[in-house]
Amino acid sequence: MCRYKCVTLQRPDAIVSGHTTHIIMSAITILGIESSCDDTSAAVITDGILRSNVIASQSVHEEYGGVVPELASRAHQQNIVPVVSAALSRAGIKPQALSAIAFTRGPGLLGSLLVGTSFAKGMSLGLRTPIIDVNHLHGHVLSHFIRRKADDEVPEFPFLCLLVSGGNSQLILVKSAHDMTILGHTIDDAAGEAFDKCAKVMGLPYPGGPHIDRLAAEGDPHRFKFAKPRMAGLDYSFSGLKTSFLYTLRDELKKNPQFVTENMADLAASLQRTIVDILLDKLDAAVKQTGVKTVAIGGGVSANSGVRDAVAAYCAANGLKAFIPERVFTTDNAAMVAIAGYFKYQKGEFCQYSEVPYARVSI
Ligand code: KG4
Repeated sequence: MCRYKCVTLQRPDAIVSGHTTHIIMSAITILGIESSCDDTSAAVITDGILRSNVIASQSVHEEYGGVVPELASRAHQQNIVPVVSAALSRAGIKPQALSAIAFTRGPGLLGSLLVGTSFAKGMSLGLRTPIIDVNHLHGHVLSHFIRRKADDEVPEFPFLCLLVSGGNSQLILVKSAHDMTILGHTIDDAAGEAFDKCAKVMGLPYPGGPHIDRLAAEGDPHRFKFAKPRMAGLDYSFSGLKTSFLYTLRDELKKNPQFVTENMADLAASLQRTIVDILLDKLDAAVKQTGVKTVAIGGGVSANSGVRDAVAAYCAANGLKAFIPERVFTTDNAAMVAIAGYFKYQKGEFCQYSEVPYARVSI
């Protein structure tokens, strides 16, 4: 049996002339580049197995209480060369050995995306290696296919993915790596925004989600009751919860100016429980509607202990297989870009140099 994979692809020079080139490769090695928000990341994956994943987080935004787009772009410019170099050297890969360079094309901050996109194009031109554009949201969903070793378990299609981040809260039916349908999404704030905005009114630093998570471990999740939305169908809403949280603090602070400092842990635990309840309520409805046997979670909020424990317990109680990602693959990382690029590579889906990044795009 032939041990080489024969793929048909358009190399950069062929893309210009419109010709197709056939090449023989022993392994598919993809460099992933992620620069959609405030993490500069590069990763190398060979045949689905992770060889390196380097992430440079930007601390410059902390004092502003949120990501400042202009500062993010500048930090990406400073970080991208050392981060890509580190990813290649940790993987023990020479740039010439890459099969393709995958980059996040969107959604995200346009200035940040331009850094990764332009870097990928420049590297591609220099190496004559094809480029693959990746939808950041596909990356989060497909992060469950990143393997550290060959026998690591990956989800079987179809599965349901709860994608929860700072910008998205979606229930996605994943029929294949290339065929995903959004069953429900938030009509206002994302779950991550609810964490971050409520944390901000408690005086916690940005991003507040991890701080709420840490405090919640010490608190009583049933001490305070906050509003839950009554939404038909599978859509989410978190703005009512945010308002209810704000009004509770405002009213209680009038009675006791130390209310927040004296009740940090209980507030965090009660907020986290409410967000988890809202997420699980629609997840359960989506499982019943689709009849799937496998549930996965992804996105920054899937790092939350309450979300992870609740989804694992729900799946165990209902005979479902749960895929809970390693924490390093929940927030923005290039390994997920590389794995999404790997799937596109196998289908021969490459990108033209004329393609530009997009700030907004659906799954
Ligand atoms: O996916 P992500 O890194 O960025 C995008 O929004 O694309 O998600 C960031 C979000 C932030 O809202 C952050 O507060 C939240 O994920 N987050 C958490 C936790 N870790 C990150 N929220 C709750 N608990 C956590 N442990």
